[in-house]
Amino acid sequence: MIQLIKPYLDYQELEPQFAKIINSGMLTKGEYSKRFPEMLKNYTGAASAFLTTSATTALTMSLKLLDVGPGDEIIVSDFSFPASSNVIEDLGATPVFADVSLDTYNMTLDSVKANLSEKTKAVMFVDALGNPSGLLDIAEFCKEHNLVLIEDAACAIGSRVGETKVGNIADLTCFSFHPRKLLTCGEGGAITTNNPKYAEVLSYKLNHGANADGEFVSFGYNYRMPELACCLGCSQLPRIDDIVVQRRAQARQYAELLEPLGYIAQRADDLTYHNMQSVVFMVPEDVSRDGLCKWLAEQGVESTIGTYCLSATAYYKAKYNNVQPNALYLQRNTITLPCYENVSVDEVCEKIASYRAS
Ligand SMILES: Cc1ncc(COP(=O)(O)O)c(C=O)c1O
Repeated sequence: MIQLIKPYLDYQELEPQFAKIINSGMLTKGEYSKRFPEMLKNYTGAASAFLTTSATTALTMSLKLLDVGPGDEIIVSDFSFPASSNVIEDLGATPVFADVSLDTYNMTLDSVKANLSEKTKAVMFVDALGNPSGLLDIAEFCKEHNLVLIEDAACAIGSRVGETKVGNIADLTCFSFHPRKLLTCGEGGAITTNNPKYAEVLSYKLNHGANADGEFVSFGYNYRMPELACCLGCSQLPRIDDIVVQRRAQARQYAELLEPLGYIAQRADDLTYHNMQSVVFMVPEDVSRDGLCKWLAEQGVESTIGTYCLSATAYYKAKYNNVQPNALYLQRNTITLPCYENVSVDEVCEKIASYRAS
């Protein structure tokens, strides 16, 4: 089976480090737990970085930081994984679904403008499949309207806009280290910010409410990543740029072979450097996406949908009945293809071409 993704991890390299951690008994709050956020800070260029257990808890923490609750609206990209809106719903606030571009798959400025109301407390931009296209326009709009910009960058480690890395653009940026991501810790997440006030509150909220002197100045949470997971993060981060270069080359190869067959690649703006967390294509109109996925599975190739139209999922459709057409089109007509070291792009594309011919 050609899998969708394999983690970029090397057990031989990790074994001595794991042994050291286990033998030390410091399974949490050890050396790697301190080093990993420092490395993230240096890599992204953000002033502060904090670890969490997942992107979901990073996003929840970010919303709690803003005191988001009942009566508040958060404008959120409609083409994403349901965690993006679940965290809003969980706090009793209202997710307002912004439709996305059929080219970049990201929320459009027009859709944000159309959904702005007096209740809007923040905007949650999602880097669809790692793509930060359009982020700067949304950031500028948020600044003009005094709105906080939270970036769901679960998929976007290693992406940038111009020379500025994701993590150093929005007010609060949330990453995921789930195994489908380019950098994985098994589970894990992070928040980066350049806002010193947010950083101060995060430092005690993420430490059970205790400040640097150990005084419990507030109530707080434990969203800590275990030491072994932090060690995984430290080992991969120095390689992330090389991983992205390799994925971008594979994505280009896919595009060269599939675009003549009518498949359309996700587009990135000129300024944008997309990490190609997922290589996703819109299928031609005469190709059934579900039929193609099934055919590829029979041929030993794993594939999946692009991602979800949040407003069309059962819960949100029943509650808000506000399905966004472009996001729905993308949910139905996009496919994610295998991408990692040594995947035979030629072989996958041959199988895709033979589906059409069959
Ligand atoms: C855009 C987006 N946001 C949030 C999440 C949730 O990430 P985690 O599993 O780290 O909570 C995902 C996971 O796939 C995602 O793709």
